[in-house]
Amino acid sequence: MNNVAMIGVGISRFGRRTDARMDELAWEAFKEALEDSGVTQKDIDQFVVSNLGGWSSELLPAVVVGEYCGLAPKPTMRIEAACASGSAAAYHAYLAVASGQADIAAAIGVEKMSESTLPTTVELIGRAGNFFWEFENFGLTFPGYYALYATAYMDKYGAKEEDLAEVAVKNHYYGSLNPKAHFRKRIDVSDVLRSRYVAWPLKLLDSSPVTDGAAAVIFANSDKAKQFVDDPVWIRGIGMGSGTSNLSKRDDFLHLEAAVRAARRAYAQAGVLDPRRTFDVAEVHDCFTIAEILAYEDLEVVGRGEGFKLAKEHQVYKGGMLPTNLSGGLKAKGHPIGATGLAMLAELKRQLRQEVGGERQADIKKGWALAHNIGGTGHYAYVTIVSLDKGAE
Ligand code: COA
Repeated sequence: MNNVAMIGVGISRFGRRTDARMDELAWEAFKEALEDSGVTQKDIDQFVVSNLGGWSSELLPAVVVGEYCGLAPKPTMRIEAACASGSAAAYHAYLAVASGQADIAAAIGVEKMSESTLPTTVELIGRAGNFFWEFENFGLTFPGYYALYATAYMDKYGAKEEDLAEVAVKNHYYGSLNPKAHFRKRIDVSDVLRSRYVAWPLKLLDSSPVTDGAAAVIFANSDKAKQFVDDPVWIRGIGMGSGTSNLSKRDDFLHLEAAVRAARRAYAQAGVLDPRRTFDVAEVHDCFTIAEILAYEDLEVVGRGEGFKLAKEHQVYKGGMLPTNLSGGLKAKGHPIGATGLAMLAELKRQLRQEVGGERQADIKKGWALAHNIGGTGHYAYVTIVSLDKGAE
């Protein structure tokens, strides 16, 4: 297998983007990635487009995105892994380069969630049919799934609604500093507690929003990376896991089994021995505040029942034990489903290269970072480890 570098990244402005079509949004991100890497479309051997769709009027996203971005007629496909679709696209492009099928491959993620004509939670679950059979039989909504995890967690470990709120406060603080974030408004714990319930104990301000946006990453092998950039960031491990669609078959509602499996696989590939001491910065899947707390534990950064304390003690801010979601996370930066996993990698490349700057820039001492991206409620999970250090050839 070849070593694989991220040589260029781009992110569109996130938010309600009625001003742009899907292909225009994708171009906004891809153009930035081309400029970041110095490559042109002719240098790219293949590309992949991540998009959940469902609500989208466009059924062939890879075709329209490829044409608008000047990539047709190169090999392509659309990739779906629910909210982890962006990470799945990164994995596909990574494999293409690692295996030698491509010298340079691009992954472009895009979603226009605002095209949904129904409330997102109904659209997401109702249209997924048999997959989410609890919706059909019991009316369980998407926030409802994470609310089950939140109530089980609060009951077992004594966490309070205000402890969950700490995650939203942090992510809105960093979102306020990110010019591309969906929400740039700072909030405090009392704002979260006063916001209306969506599915008890989760409230509006515990939830990620309905967002339009795109992100792109260009991957290359060592020779091509050297030719185009001085400062690549290397993919050191990608772990994946999946979970049952029937939640009654899960071990418990206190962790996402798929995320634990994905993390362990990624750590094994990257040679990470102690996840508590390896990473300068992380981007994790905070679709609801409880999800970020579970992520700290599923990644084995802290023990079971300790995650909410990490948030409460501000150990996940810049300068803390593991600065997390300095982009604003899904909560404030936004969660355009097909783009999210790639936006995480784009943020981490810029963090490791210290290109973010200001209050959002993590202190980079070890040169390692981690992305954790979940599809559904742990139906899919991807953990991707990146480093300034290329590793062995
Ligand atoms: N965080 C902060 N503010 C939010 C918000 C959020 N998640 N969602 C909406 N808002 C704001 C809107 O900007 C709007 O503000 P305004 O009145 O100043 O314009 C206001 O709250 C009402 O917005 P609206 O769109 O009517 O809210 P809604 O009730 O239709 O949707 C949720 C709110 C939380 C139900 C919806 O965003 C949701 O379903 N989120 C989860 C999405 C999801 O499941 N994604 C997949 C996860 S893996």
